[in-house]
Amino acid sequence: MYKSYIFSALHAHAAQDNLSAHMPGHKNGTLLPETLKTAWGENVFRYDLTELPGLDNLHDPQGIIQKSQEQSAAIFGAQAAHYLINGSSGGLHAALMALAAGEEIFVPRHCHRSIYHGLMLAEAKAIYLPVTLDEKWGLPLGVALTDLKKAISAHPSCRNLLIVNPTYQGLSWQNAQLITYAKEIGLNVIVDEAHGAHFHFNPALPPSAIDLGADLVVQSWHKTLPALTGSSCLLVGSDYQGRNLTKVISILQSTSPSYLLLSSLEAAAIYLAVDGKEDIAHSLKEIAQFKQDLALLTTISYLHNDAWQADPFKLNLYSTVLNGEQLAAKLQNEHIYVEMSEANSCLLLLPLKFTAAYRQRLFQALAQIEQATKALPPRALTKPFYLPTIPQTKYPLKQALWQAKEAVNIEEALGRAAAEFMLQYPPGIPLLLPGEIISAEAIDLLRTYPQYQRLAVLQE
Ligand SMILES: Cc1ncc(COP(=O)(O)O)c(C=O)c1O
Repeated sequence: MYKSYIFSALHAHAAQDNLSAHMPGHKNGTLLPETLKTAWGENVFRYDLTELPGLDNLHDPQGIIQKSQEQSAAIFGAQAAHYLINGSSGGLHAALMALAAGEEIFVPRHCHRSIYHGLMLAEAKAIYLPVTLDEKWGLPLGVALTDLKKAISAHPSCRNLLIVNPTYQGLSWQNAQLITYAKEIGLNVIVDEAHGAHFHFNPALPPSAIDLGADLVVQSWHKTLPALTGSSCLLVGSDYQGRNLTKVISILQSTSPSYLLLSSLEAAAIYLAVDGKEDIAHSLKEIAQFKQDLALLTTISYLHNDAWQADPFKLNLYSTVLNGEQLAAKLQNEHIYVEMSEANSCLLLLPLKFTAAYRQRLFQALAQIEQATKALPPRALTKPFYLPTIPQTKYPLKQALWQAKEAVNIEEALGRAAAEFMLQYPPGIPLLLPGEIISAEAIDLLRTYPQYQRLAVLQE
């Protein structure tokens, strides 16, 4: 029923005895550095093709890419799908340029740095929305509906809204209400769904933004789906009537898009439609079992709260005796690499095919860590890397980025304007933007990070 339009065309070409007198320079894998040839083999390079006859053109799709994108749109319940080869970052830039160029837009302060870059490119005027932090753990939950309503009353001329669904840690919190409300009152809604590409495929997951009626939804398929790094998608909601997206995306993306990435996007969408739903349903049961197993441990648990509307495939592991980084390091000793570690917890991105074998290996490692560390003294909760209030701006972002700067000791930075994005990566959420005033509250947080003992500030 589903067709591999891109893969089939690449496969047919790769199967022929073709002499390459075109890009790329590895000439269908016949000219390869020995290291790559030995490790990867020649075959993958035979599929790394370019816009040859029959292979269509991402910048003006009319053949296999167009058909493949249409099929993916139908799989995700969207009006259209635009494949991206530059991650969600590129898609967010395009979405902001398409919907909010030169206009006001409500933007939550816990957004990824790519959104600030996009705001600059689009020359949009951001009206920042405060983010509610979880009282106990300090995790950013998102924007409260009441805060959005207050901002709308204060800025009735603003017609655009950006939502992050879910957060890096997998929390959707009040997003469903925000998107529904915003569409009811006629706002244009862009959603950074970098971490939520799988949401449409099981009702037990937080609702997908497309299903909630959002206009433009950007998803990093490479983050949660079986797709190559960098491959992402911009989905278009059924009511979208803004600028031509192919045109905008074309401004921002390479004229040499990787067919390996395009082919992996197509395959990921087909996977979801064919096997993915079943895998997800089965994995949810296994994850529930894993959480029951975790209850047998006394020092290791996971952060949770029903109100968070959390993605079950994200697990924020927590130890009462180890901080997030120490726990991650212990897991690494067991050859288990986590997505991110922060003050209190470390974040695991579980596979959409979460098998019993995966569950057992993870649990065994955690049980061993608990055994080896449970005699340690309990630790106090530490501050996570987020500011509860929105910093004041001294210079506009675009101006501040290019202004002369100097480095000062953190103690001398109070009241000065930041010269750089100050952020921890991951999650890539800036605490301060260039041009924003460094408050005592910010210094307090930055002090806990070794790289911020000297700060780049703007020259007065
Ligand atoms: C919330 C969020 N949005 C956007 C991005 C950018 O995605 P990409 O890495 O696919 O460009 C990230 C990356 O980590 C992210 O965490």
